Amino acid sequence: MLKGRSLIEPDNFSLEETESLFTLAEKIESDESYLRDSCRGKLLATLFFEPSTRTRLSFEAAILRLGGSCLGFADPGSSSAVKGESLADTVRMAASYADAIVMRSPKEGAALLASRYSLVPVLNAGDGGHHHPTQTLTDLFTIRRLRGEIKNLTVGFCGDLKFGRTVHSLAKALARYTNIRVIFISPEELVIPEYIASILQRQGIEFSETRNLEEAMPELDVLYMTRVQKERFFNEEDYIRLKDSFVLNTEKMAIGKDNLVVLHPLPRVNEIAVEVDADPRAAYFKQARYGMYARMALLAAILGVV
Ligand code: NCD
Repeated sequence: MLKGRSLIEPDNFSLEETESLFTLAEKIESDESYLRDSCRGKLLATLFFEPSTRTRLSFEAAILRLGGSCLGFADPGSSSAVKGESLADTVRMAASYADAIVMRSPKEGAALLASRYSLVPVLNAGDGGHHHPTQTLTDLFTIRRLRGEIKNLTVGFCGDLKFGRTVHSLAKALARYTNIRVIFISPEELVIPEYIASILQRQGIEFSETRNLEEAMPELDVLYMTRVQKERFFNEEDYIRLKDSFVLNTEKMAIGKDNLVVLHPLPRVNEIAVEVDADPRAAYFKQARYGMYARMALLAAILGVV
């Protein structure tokens, strides 16, 4: 039962619970009228202390399509945080108006803290460079839809693996599936954090690290491209030096498998050339759509309407 549960880290729900969400998301996708008014009268608070387009709009679209409503802010400058209000107080206030809270913060651990003060479920839409579990639901659901199942896959993560919270969450989640191999592709300065590598180690997941995308390309079933996370850098020079470390283009796609799936949480900056969009293996825009179905399933489940 997911009713009333928060989602702070990608493994808060068991594999069976996650699977049940995907089954639900597939039903919603195949029948647009299914659950259409199931959340009538339910209110979702969206507290975004950090910029977002996709995630916030995806949650808003999800609750509205379920017949519910949403309220919140997309710019912390317009919230009482600028007056010095603590996160705990903001969350207690939002929890007294709404039935669930989605929040994004630049601070690692903020969503966990919020969940301790909230009487309603809290969904972590990104806490600094830490985790982003609803993006992971999106990513896993996309892999399942496009590959049939989430197993026997070699998954390459490419780009900013140090600060990329979507990478941390997806890698941690994939460690629970069968026969997954991981290749981490990044510049030296942006390697995967030790704590994620040790989770994979503990779960017996085979993984390797490389600085070279071309070398990894022919082996991959899924390529997860990421943006260099400018906002988490301490100085501009390092960002400028590293931002174009990897650019996926048609030459590199040519050495990939025929059934490769290319994912990206978006926004894309330079790391995927626009020419790649026309390749049928480029799945990042479909992924955004699947994310809405995954979030509809999540909201319906935690609000207890299914
Ligand atoms: C990601 C994020 O916010 O971490 N975006 C998203 O939620 N789709 C990735 C990013 O900003 O690079």
